[in-house]
Amino acid sequence: MIFTIKTNPVNQPLLNLDTQSAPDIADEAALHAELTAFAEFGAETQVEGWHGEDGLELPVYINEFWTAKQRQANALHEVSYRACFKPQLPRFFIERLTAPGDVVLDPFMGRGTTPLEAALKGRVPFGADVSPLAERLTAPRLDPPSSRDVAQRLEVVKKLCDAKSVSDAPDEDLLVFYHPETLHCLKVLRSYLQGRQEAGVLDSVDAWIRLVATNRLTGHSSGFFSVYTLPPNQAVTADRQRKINAKREQQPPFRDIFYIIQKKSKQLTKALTEVDLAMLDSVQDQARMVTASADALSQHLPAESVSLVVTSPPFLDVVQYATDNWLRCWFNGIDADAVPIWQCRQVDQWTDRMSASLAEMKTLLKPGGWVAFEVGEVRGGKIKLENYAVRAGLAAGLEPVLILINQQDFTKTANCWGVANNSRGTNTNRIVLFRKAASNS
Ligand SMILES: C[S@@+](CC[C@H](N)C(=O)[O-])C[C@H]1O[C@@H](n2cnc3c(N)ncnc32)[C@H](O)[C@@H]1O
Repeated sequence: MIFTIKTNPVNQPLLNLDTQSAPDIADEAALHAELTAFAEFGAETQVEGWHGEDGLELPVYINEFWTAKQRQANALHEVSYRACFKPQLPRFFIERLTAPGDVVLDPFMGRGTTPLEAALKGRVPFGADVSPLAERLTAPRLDPPSSRDVAQRLEVVKKLCDAKSVSDAPDEDLLVFYHPETLHCLKVLRSYLQGRQEAGVLDSVDAWIRLVATNRLTGHSSGFFSVYTLPPNQAVTADRQRKINAKREQQPPFRDIFYIIQKKSKQLTKALTEVDLAMLDSVQDQARMVTASADALSQHLPAESVSLVVTSPPFLDVVQYATDNWLRCWFNGIDADAVPIWQCRQVDQWTDRMSASLAEMKTLLKPGGWVAFEVGEVRGGKIKLENYAVRAGLAAGLEPVLILINQQDFTKTANCWGVANNSRGTNTNRIVLFRKAASNS
């Protein structure tokens, strides 16, 4: 493999690979033409019209633009998170709208799908989320340690675990999830990591172990630390777990947390090639991960630095991030109730907040930069959030360019604007693409 060094706009050395040369940055006409002609997965694009208030019209492109049939996403993404999107979604926009060395941002990054995919493509990853968990789930995967380093560090913690006796503290709520010895080791690991953090010596190996442990806390197989429970991104309450245990007549079995962390670490890194590692390495020093609300981001990131935003905000109050994440927050020493997650019951409140965040994105975007803003289906398809997203973007001073609907299992007869499809549970991603005007005039 031949590497060539290119110079990016901020004169940082940048790795570029012959085999993955940067696409031409799409101008709008080329993008419309490509989406219209798109037939990569067999179906032709359906082009419809969206008509808004004030006579605004936008083209709507409907097709299977990315798919499970496509080449697999890198296993490094395989960290579970409520309402995360597939890496193929940010990849679609990153490949078309940016070149290596460009900055790609997600201000609602969750598990960090956008920044991680951007980094794997040699783009500089910027990510933010109001939950401190997001940074902890994302940053370590931009700098994965070797399996040997992980094993050695786990050995250190294991010795601490063996040296201390199992506490008889009344952890009744945690003991409905964990065998007493599993809980003992988990608490030793937790206090080891918190001690390292407080002493300012937490390094990338510790951060990696914390990420992997956070993801193994609860789940439905022996690959998790807990007894059988809901999937790992939805921790149930202790009372609910008591009921699950009673119904299934189960007791938490012993789990070797060190073995599980090592195994999951290997799974996450198994597909990383030399090229992937070189890509991550090339952008690491410029990466920025921030814990902040999306309506206050310009206090933390440089204005006019971002070429593309690919993001997916909370969809009204559909996901209960605080309750789903209570155990992850416990392990990470985060007060889940103190994280000011946006949960909007009313669509008008949601629109106002999205408008404030889109205004921040506009400040951070370079002239001519793009925002791909994904919204899901809410209230059984009765509320079309993309309509409100267009309104929010206009209020923020961004230009709506098009709406793209990625529909899985696309058929030519599908009409994904229709209620019928929603009630059949059609799985769509609905993306409004905005652009910042090329000049500030
Ligand atoms: C739909 S999820 C994003 C998932 C992400 N696309 C991924 O692939 O993991 C929405 C995210 O918005 C975050 N969030 C909620 N309120 C926020 C706010 N005020 N500012 C920034 N992030 C916020 C939540 O913590 C959650 O991680």
